[in-house]
Amino acid sequence: MSTFQAPKGTYDLLPPRSATFLAVREAISAPLKNSGYGYVETPGFENVELFSRGVGESTDIVSKEMYTLTTKGGDQLALRPEGTASVLRAALQGNLHKLGGLPVKLWYSGSYYRYERAQAGRYRHFSQVGAEAIGAEDPALDAELIILADQAYRSLGLRNFRILLNSLGDKECRPVYREALQAFLRGLDLDEDTVRRAEINPLRVLDDKRESVQKQLVGAPMLRDYLCDACKAYHEEVRALVTAAGVVFEDDEKLVRGLDYYTRTTFEFVHDGLGSQSAVGGGGRYDGLSEMIGGPALPSVGWALGVDRTVLALEAEGVALDIPAATSVFAVALGGAKPVLFGLVTELRRAGVAADISYGGKGLKGAMKDANRSGARFALVAGDRDLEEGVVQLKDMESGEQVPVALADVVDTVRAKLA
Ligand code: HAM
Repeated sequence: MSTFQAPKGTYDLLPPRSATFLAVREAISAPLKNSGYGYVETPGFENVELFSRGVGESTDIVSKEMYTLTTKGGDQLALRPEGTASVLRAALQGNLHKLGGLPVKLWYSGSYYRYERAQAGRYRHFSQVGAEAIGAEDPALDAELIILADQAYRSLGLRNFRILLNSLGDKECRPVYREALQAFLRGLDLDEDTVRRAEINPLRVLDDKRESVQKQLVGAPMLRDYLCDACKAYHEEVRALVTAAGVVFEDDEKLVRGLDYYTRTTFEFVHDGLGSQSAVGGGGRYDGLSEMIGGPALPSVGWALGVDRTVLALEAEGVALDIPAATSVFAVALGGAKPVLFGLVTELRRAGVAADISYGGKGLKGAMKDANRSGARFALVAGDRDLEEGVVQLKDMESGEQVPVALADVVDTVRAKLA
């Protein structure tokens, strides 16, 4: 019988690489926890309508990429393709916006699902860490999020990423632009699919990567020229605050995101070592989303950074994270010493020392190999003779030096040496 394989477009996180994923999640969330964001966790699936209304019927995410299912009870659910709609739904349901003190600042970390054409950096199951600041219209909030993402990437040692920034206007100025763009697109020689896209979601056509299309887009009306005064002023303030923080960005007037809820500020973090799937993160302002899903007006802004692609970016830059060995002390029991050493390992663990022991009745050689493989700084070695003398041998795995330590002093001695 052949063994099972992980489904297409998915992969397993296994040691040692999995430690990098944990470290990346930690590095992205640390600046958020340090900036007033509280942790939120929502279900892995939601009512399908939350996404069709929130993310948008015309987006690829909703029209092609959602994993939908009908429950035995007849509910139409979808595995979550993204986090923003869910987090806003949860905040509304939990009445967080009524507790006073807007914005409600939340961060999250989890798995997301999109039925995409699988390729390097593009998976059907992937992982994001995200942040949403709900219920305030303040350029400082947009700037804060961009600065915190930059801080997260830099803390990981990433350097070759760029920040692309744009404004998509609001419900006053975007419709005017949309019409002007549509009029322009109708005069072009486009294939059927693109013509259809131009009617449903014309801004997405600007994002078309094909040269044949890009060539024709020269001279297309640009949103920048249609922004209303309020949107212009807002955007200038975001740019000024980000600049004042020393964070470098590029104005990208063609940046259109793949989700329909965006208004005003939009941004993407791209890494130049990743080929076509270069976006390591993205986000923006979504002032109308709450109303789109049945809530009150709650202007909001957020981002999500892709953990998988951030790990790929680290690998592309050759950055190795400084991940401490999982085990500090490894016990090697000889003869009948196992019960005593097992007891010591338990004591060490309870004292907060990362400790492990060789299992499976191996001899000295095999057990010492286990100790080496564990990366432990110290080995505790003992046989019957040592125990008769009331000691264990504490071996420094770096220097090879070995000293006897009284059984009663093991925990304190190890702790002192590790400190
Ligand atoms: P998004 O741009 O769709 O935005 O996804 C954010 C990041 O998730 C991407 O930049 C990418 O790194 C990662 N990602 C997306 N799809 C895949 C995939 N198939 N395989 C691997 N990684 C992927 C959102 O999801 C918005 N909810 C972000 C946001 C939050 N906007 C406002 N608040």
